[in-house]
Amino acid sequence: MRAYAKLARRFMDVLRIRGGNALRGEVAVGGAKNACLPLLAATLLTDEPCVLRNVPELSDSRFMREILSHLGAEIVSAGKNSWRVEAREIQPKTPYELVRKMRASICVMGALVGRLKRAEIPLPGGCVIGPRPIDLHIKGLKKLGCEIENLEGSMHIDASKARGAYIFLGGRYGSTVTGTSNILMASVLTPGTTQIDSAACEPEIVDLCNMLVKMGARISGIGSPTLKIQGVERLHGCEHSVIPDRIEAGTLLLCGAITRGDVAVRGARSEHLGAFLDKMHEAAIPLEVLGDDCIRVRGDLAGAFKPIDIVTMPHPGFPTDLQAQFTALLAMTQGISIVTERIYPSRFMHVPELQRMGAEIAIEGPSAIIKGVASLSGAPVMASDLRASAALVLAGLAARGETWVQRIYHLDRGYEKFEVQLSKLGADICRLKDTDMPSEFMENG
Ligand code: EPU
Repeated sequence: MRAYAKLARRFMDVLRIRGGNALRGEVAVGGAKNACLPLLAATLLTDEPCVLRNVPELSDSRFMREILSHLGAEIVSAGKNSWRVEAREIQPKTPYELVRKMRASICVMGALVGRLKRAEIPLPGGCVIGPRPIDLHIKGLKKLGCEIENLEGSMHIDASKARGAYIFLGGRYGSTVTGTSNILMASVLTPGTTQIDSAACEPEIVDLCNMLVKMGARISGIGSPTLKIQGVERLHGCEHSVIPDRIEAGTLLLCGAITRGDVAVRGARSEHLGAFLDKMHEAAIPLEVLGDDCIRVRGDLAGAFKPIDIVTMPHPGFPTDLQAQFTALLAMTQGISIVTERIYPSRFMHVPELQRMGAEIAIEGPSAIIKGVASLSGAPVMASDLRASAALVLAGLAARGETWVQRIYHLDRGYEKFEVQLSKLGADICRLKDTDMPSEFMENG
């Protein structure tokens, strides 16, 4: 067993980055992972075919495809980055092996409840970025009149008596993104009027509402914290294009800034990135907004970046999914910056790895106190989750010498061929096998 485990580790992909190149050029972001997953789940709400365009080629999209297939949907390609999903007949049981691979698979729960009036789904369990309870999802379903039993680690949901209801969905960390998607999808086919207060306002929720409306759902208040849903009897198929990934866009803008480059990011929508762009301005990073769909960062024109304070919050606040990446930039910004996590108070797994590269960061409760240093130095580092991996790539791009980022399967969950994007912009980055690493850097048994 140990021998196999060792063998498996030997063939993991790693990124080798030789830092110091200023990135230059134009790059386009893909469809948003966090929009695409609930949109795929929404196709289960109708027996008619739906065509989703701009689906990102990510391991998370592939996991979702597996889950939909398991539930009975037929998925075929409808052209580049386009999927045609037909869920003519589906069944309610989602297996643990699939849910375990991807926490976000919980977003099929609302769609199954809406369409079949029953669902059987395993509780998703913990996650490296902190506790990720689903109590608010359950509260919302119970308010709708669902009966829920927990048997052998799975929730058995009976929605046969569900009716529209008033649901306050806020929790101690504010609104819940996937919880809002689930309750939305459960209520669009539930008789009566449902009102969700303290609903998440993220662009990904707006995208889901827009698709549901195309399918015949009746939703008002889209984009606000109060959503009103008038249940309808059935929904029909539609064609929909996933919004561009604002987190990928923000990450690429930070790559341009940290390398003192000049990068235009197509698909970067300022309406989705308000709080992030505000912090870029405060940090004295020059930006040009080129129309509705493109932002250019001019790291080459910047003087010294300024230290800043960031507090993550639900949208329209600063997104937690850009916290780690901005922390990497602030680690190289002279002066003291403070980054506080209000969504996942322990989401600082990237910090010990940045420290290995010479960053001076202290964690105090939910805050990282960053004393910016003049330069970082390349090192072998370990990715622990998706956004932490992106932060390590950013640091590697700007560091002196060679950085090896290991366990990049985390990165592949949310960034489509990230190293290819960065190479085209002039980065010295390549994907290798961990057997290519200097032997002293390899993970040992
Ligand atoms: N929360 C509860 N109870 C619940 C649900 C959430 O207390 O029932 C808490 C969470 O523990 C957290 C906060 O509320 O403190 C927000 O959680 P939320 O439910 O909004 O997160 P999520 O829907 O599970 C999505 C994204 C995350 C992103 C968060 C916050 C997807 C698939 N995932 O997660 O994305 O960080 O919203 O914006 O949409 C990522 O892409 O790297 C990622 C982790």
